[in-house]
Amino acid sequence: MERLPGFRDFYPEPLPSKEAWSADLRQRLFDSWRTTARRHGFREYDGPPLEPLELFTVKSGDEIVGQLYNFVDKGDREISLRPEMTPTLARMAAAAERQYKKPLKWFAIPQLFRYERQQKGRLREHFQFNADIIGEADPAADAELIALLINTLRELGLTDADFVVRLSSRLAWQEFYGERATEPGRSYEFFQIVDKLEREAPERSDAALQALGFSLEAVREFIAAARPTDDLKRILDDLGARGLGAFVKVDYLVIRGLAYYTGPVFEAFDRKGEFRAIAGGGRYDNLLKLISGGRVDLPALGFGMGDVVLTELLKARGLVPAVVAGIDVCVLVEDEGLRLASLRVVQQLRETGCAVDYSLTSMKPDKQFKRAVELGAAHTVRLVRGEDGAISARVKNLRTREEQVLSPDAVVPALSVRHPA
Ligand code: HAM
Repeated sequence: MERLPGFRDFYPEPLPSKEAWSADLRQRLFDSWRTTARRHGFREYDGPPLEPLELFTVKSGDEIVGQLYNFVDKGDREISLRPEMTPTLARMAAAAERQYKKPLKWFAIPQLFRYERQQKGRLREHFQFNADIIGEADPAADAELIALLINTLRELGLTDADFVVRLSSRLAWQEFYGERATEPGRSYEFFQIVDKLEREAPERSDAALQALGFSLEAVREFIAAARPTDDLKRILDDLGARGLGAFVKVDYLVIRGLAYYTGPVFEAFDRKGEFRAIAGGGRYDNLLKLISGGRVDLPALGFGMGDVVLTELLKARGLVPAVVAGIDVCVLVEDEGLRLASLRVVQQLRETGCAVDYSLTSMKPDKQFKRAVELGAAHTVRLVRGEDGAISARVKNLRTREEQVLSPDAVVPALSVRHPA
């Protein structure tokens, strides 16, 4: 039985094949995302992986609607796997916002599903770090969010030589459109043409723009001028004050594909332009109102950062963090007559917080030792019965290869990872 195309198997290290993904690396990424989010004052939430289909058709835009994994369930409900987290967040926040002080600063690490054409950096399932701020209209919130995005990538060892956040504004584009449009109601169509400018043949973009009364030349001039709006100026000043100015630039080529964005939008790319976007986001001030049927009207903004492109980039830059099995102690059972006494040591060590492993059945001592080394254990412990019948514990430090002889009761205090209160 094969796995479905575009889905991944995550194995513990060492990986069994080239196409296998590392469960250890994934955990390392999640830990890094969580640590950075908490350091910026964001709280974790989560929602269901299945939602009513309507939640995603209402405002995400045609591109995502075409990629939905949707079906009818046994209760005749039209449902879909979540292709993104933002509509779920908008639903949850609108339902519970009264219970929380504003602004909400929330993050999640959902697995998302999109029936996309498979290509480099694009799969049918990915994990996405989502961070959003709800209930604050001031550009200070946009800057805080972009600072989190930048610091998340820096935390993984990437520098301003590796990536840049391209900052743009739907408002600036809306104004450009409003001043020149012959058909005012087709702005989202126009945004989608701009969104594809980098990937589409110029003649095709030009023809599509002409159909809406624009020329490619005028659009290109607007992008080249890169005049920041007042909001963007505030965001740039704020990030500059944090010493993060080198990580952002105004770039109106970015406009974002999703339909719900209303104000500043941004995407993070590797500087060499080898990969697809590492992350993307922006302001979506009308989505809560729309999803709550007008009941809750709160400004909001956020970004999503996928694990697929990020992992490719970290690999290409030699920045994949070292991952070990995370075993602290291997208890070697060399004398089956001491297995029960050894299990007592295993249990006691685990109760103090040590990660402990041991051989479940009889195994040659050299094989047990080799396994301990493979697992990256810091120590081995083996119980030995002396000629006088007394049991002692041999505790070996695998880094220094020094061995201590202790009484079995002294093992736990010697190796405990928890410090006494
Ligand atoms: P998005 O631009 O669709 O935004 O996705 C954000 C990031 O997720 C992308 O930059 C990319 O790294 C990753 N990604 C998206 N699709 C795939 C895929 N098929 N395979 C691998 N990686 C992928 C959103 O989803 C917005 N909801 C983000 C947001 C949050 N906006 C406001 N709050």
